[in-house]
Amino acid sequence: MAADFDLSSSFIPALHKPSSLLPIARHRKNILYLIDTFPVTIIVGQTGSGKTTQVPQFLNQARWTADGKVIGVTQPRRVAATTVAARVAEEVGCKLGEEVGYSIRFEDLTSVKTHIKFVTDGLLLREALADPLLSKYSVVMVDEAHERSLSSDILLGVLKKIRKKRPDLRIVVSSATLQAEGILNFFSSKTHAIDGSDTQLAIGRIISLEGRMYPVDIHYLRDPAEDYLEEVVKTVFEIHSSEPEGDILAFLTGREEIDVALKMITDRSLALHPKAPSVLALPLYAGLTSEQQLSVFDLAPENTRKVIVSTNIAEASVTIDGIIYVIDCGFVKLRAYNPLTGIETLTPTPVSKASAIQRAGRAGRTKPGKCYRLYTERAYDALTEATVPEIQRSNLAPVILQLKALGIDNILRFDFLTPPPAELVTRALELLYSLGALDDYAKLTRPIGIRMAELAVEPMMAKVLLEAPSMGCLSEILSIAAMTSLQGSVWFEGSDGRKGQETSRRKFAAEEGDHLTLLNVYETFITKGRKESRWCRENHLNFKSMTRAVSVRNQLRRYLERLGVQVEESLAPGQKQKVDGNDRAVRIRRCLTTGYFVHAARMQPDGTFKTVNESVTLHAHPSSLMFNRKADWVIFHELMETGEKTFIRDVTKIEKNWLLEGGSGEYYQLKDGSRSKTAGV
Ligand code: CDP
Ligand code: MG
Repeated sequence: MAADFDLSSSFIPALHKPSSLLPIARHRKNILYLIDTFPVTIIVGQTGSGKTTQVPQFLNQARWTADGKVIGVTQPRRVAATTVAARVAEEVGCKLGEEVGYSIRFEDLTSVKTHIKFVTDGLLLREALADPLLSKYSVVMVDEAHERSLSSDILLGVLKKIRKKRPDLRIVVSSATLQAEGILNFFSSKTHAIDGSDTQLAIGRIISLEGRMYPVDIHYLRDPAEDYLEEVVKTVFEIHSSEPEGDILAFLTGREEIDVALKMITDRSLALHPKAPSVLALPLYAGLTSEQQLSVFDLAPENTRKVIVSTNIAEASVTIDGIIYVIDCGFVKLRAYNPLTGIETLTPTPVSKASAIQRAGRAGRTKPGKCYRLYTERAYDALTEATVPEIQRSNLAPVILQLKALGIDNILRFDFLTPPPAELVTRALELLYSLGALDDYAKLTRPIGIRMAELAVEPMMAKVLLEAPSMGCLSEILSIAAMTSLQGSVWFEGSDGRKGQETSRRKFAAEEGDHLTLLNVYETFITKGRKESRWCRENHLNFKSMTRAVSVRNQLRRYLERLGVQVEESLAPGQKQKVDGNDRAVRIRRCLTTGYFVHAARMQPDGTFKTVNESVTLHAHPSSLMFNRKADWVIFHELMETGEKTFIRDVTKIEKNWLLEGGSGEYYQLKDGSRSKTAGV
């Protein structure tokens, strides 16, 4: 075992605070002792105390990786996995992907040399399909457990099972808040029978790193804000003009809001006096490229105040130094799944008190700070204590499919940290059944169900991919699956604003809707665009996104080939015709309907859409081809809520009778018992 302050700290670039100054350094010996001695160690410490970046390094130096074993550290978010891996690689002094690497869906930057691997919680669960005991890991650290992400919660249950067969496995759970007791109880209890405290003592310990925290002054609004976005921008400039230097971290709920706020901040900063300190506004959200993400960590130029406008990412999983002021809009985008309509939304929801406190804490890491809450103190008092765990408000079909594939057949008896409500489980089973993944006894079907679980896309798309060969459109569906998996738009606004983008988009437009339009884009990129960035620029296409689509497609193709599904590429250059109104387009749309029948809607005379049971009104998103076109029945890839409206994105026309074919027919029957009534046909 290495000494307390060993040589490795001299490799840290001078720019960084030496890790020996982090609160966690004092606990190093103790942490290593606990992990050596107990199967489960729970580390509780303020964000920024060094849990994520230091614990894996302690373990690596203490020879937990000596025999080629790997330390796996899970993160609920892709962006955290990549940025944190980059940081640790830098501290270790290696190239990312060598000793330190990361693995996220469709992107693996690890090698045989990798000892410390950052991985999204969802992906580690997926690894368990191929390696049920996670045998290559000596330690699995479930990081940010306080976030209670769906996959982390499930992973804890799976690790509890694995531990019984692998006494050597070490489980580290780290959390920024104190729910640690509950997690330790969870590990010490036998399923459905709470044990005495002896088992708890044998199984593990909780270690608390009392991180330094400076006081943070909290300011509330006197009256509720009419528009929190506008209020954020206003507050940025109030701070800028009246407060001493120090960077600002502002929380908004999503990418669209952040982009608008950045533009407003940049516009208004032009009005600042030329000699006055300037403002540099930077975004932080999951859809950014790695370089963009990393730029928020750079020091601001001289005489400039850095303003980072972020989603919830910066609440706990990513730490940026130099923040003195926090602006909290009071909302967070939360997933919510309605088991009655089968619709999942991502809606701005008031934060919990725990979140608000955590956000404020970001201001007090290096010296006393200030937090501006853009709501009243009364509104704060009315907030819920903690955010409802994801498992209680999500579409559980993907994880239930995974659990079934891991051999956990009786979902209701699975050891959940918090059990999901019965109606969510029922709904997920229903959906998986209608997709053909489960049989009448709720057992995984072979080969369809098993294969769906193996494909790294959500069940509806997995079904479509598996149906595609028999419908003669696998090559096309692969491209569509890749294009719809991209986060954010493939289009960018040119210097001429939306207009150029519109013109470009029209070139690729297919009458039948967005999926075929995306296919046209992809195929033209491959054949005519010759994968050139110039061609992309001319067509207002994001070159990076397109390149990523190619790589995602290749990976999906490899997954399918591993499952024994041969992919015949009809994609010879020059041979391509635009997909439009022909037989090929019909096959593709029909194939999409075999998975997306759950996301079916019908256009109303006023141009809005109604879901099949007419309970929800939907609007075509302005980015959709169906925004101002006529249609009858459609299916859509995803749904999003902004303010009052629910938008659908990636929309394609279908024929109503396709909805009554195969599993979808059963699905609509299943929901209400009466096919003709529910389908409205
Ligand atoms: O996991 P925890 O929140 O306890 O802390 P951490 O993420 O390990 O961060 C420890 C220190 O490293 C903090 O001072 C961060 O500011 C710094 N850090 C950084 O500068 N850049 C990163 N990408 C990650 C962490
Ligand atoms: Mg952390």
